[in-house]
Amino acid sequence: MSGNIIIEHASELVTCTGFQAKKGPEMAELGVIHDGALVIEDGLISMVGKTSDLLEHPEPGPFDIIDAHGKAVLPGFVDSHTHFVFGGYRAEEFSWRLNGMSYMDIMTNGGGIVSTVSATRKASLEELVDSGRKRLDSMLSFGVTTAEGKSGYGLDRDTEIRQLAAMAELERTHPIDIVKTFLGAHAIPREFKDKPEEFLDFIEDTVLPEVAEKGLAEFCDIFCEEGVFSVKQSRRLLLMARDLGLKLTLHADEIMPLGGAELAAELGAVSADHLLHASDRGIEALAGAGVVATLLPLTAFSLREPYARGRAMIDRNCAVALATDLNPGSCFSESIPLLFALATLYMGLTVEEALTAVTINGAAAIDRANTVGSLDVGKKGDAVILEFPSYRFIPYHIGVTTVEKVIKGGNLVYDKTTGGKLSC
Ligand code: NIG
Ligand code: FE
Repeated sequence: MSGNIIIEHASELVTCTGFQAKKGPEMAELGVIHDGALVIEDGLISMVGKTSDLLEHPEPGPFDIIDAHGKAVLPGFVDSHTHFVFGGYRAEEFSWRLNGMSYMDIMTNGGGIVSTVSATRKASLEELVDSGRKRLDSMLSFGVTTAEGKSGYGLDRDTEIRQLAAMAELERTHPIDIVKTFLGAHAIPREFKDKPEEFLDFIEDTVLPEVAEKGLAEFCDIFCEEGVFSVKQSRRLLLMARDLGLKLTLHADEIMPLGGAELAAELGAVSADHLLHASDRGIEALAGAGVVATLLPLTAFSLREPYARGRAMIDRNCAVALATDLNPGSCFSESIPLLFALATLYMGLTVEEALTAVTINGAAAIDRANTVGSLDVGKKGDAVILEFPSYRFIPYHIGVTTVEKVIKGGNLVYDKTTGGKLSC
């Protein structure tokens, strides 16, 4: 459903203007308009400017009019890396990690991802849709209007496809737009223990072709990590995915400096994600190849790992995106306010760079920079209205959401002042 809305008198209309990823110094450019106005017609942005530029004040009727006096208006946020569809939880693992067990120790001892795999294999489509919807509702309340979601908790044909089907159903019935990623090579399942090559054979013969042929996912991802899939194995799967027409993204250099960033650049991936241990060469390769560096500081925080070198990446002319990595293990958080706090206080990003990273660069990380991620004429009418007059309040109000209203395709879909979500 596409709607018609006029937002006027925004103390700051933060456009984040652009149709492609912003690199290096461009990330500081937000395009702020004071006393700004935004017109959304039939779900698409038709005017961005000053309130005084509104030619004639249309009669209320076809347009809902929102007075944003004293409030900042921004593009809807793009959470470009999540694992929001899964069965079961792993709260006990959090305590094990507090007691000193590492994420990889838990994984090699049969916990971690494969424990969520057991729970997800048991979950019905309806259960995955119901729990996924609740998580999306929470993301919407934080201002997210487009989200990426990954499979990867099935590691078999049926469950991988069921996870993707759950996302497709939510794409139809939830206001948030969803971009689907096939992550069949997320871990090695118990039935293929110590046989990564055989497992990749299975994925390549039995699952990936069907996913590609039926258009069940747009991206292919892999966990390229020591003890999971090597660079060579990752190259093999991603090349096949690319040949089948999927776009590429990688979990790269998260725990060890394996060369995932370099691989992403070599293969022309759209995005390389995590990058906590990306080498200097890897960072240069990403900048040179125009691969978006998607950083996930909530995961580093949750695992008590050092943060990715976001400042150095921007200084070396990378396009950096920020995303939550919401998942049941390494990072059970969809908190956009905490994401902003960590990126600015601990990774050395300015507020402007962090905002670019969750808007236009987040959109670019999932190949949506032409349609979302900024307030530009012709893009989807997705916007966030803060309860404060400036975008600077987002990280400043630490860990607390500043979002008052969320507009998706010209419809008001979340309003804190009237108790939350309004429509689907
Ligand atoms: O992005 N590192 C691999 N995958 C996820 C974690 C998934 C899980 O622990 O369930 C991540 O951190
Ligand atoms: Fe992830």
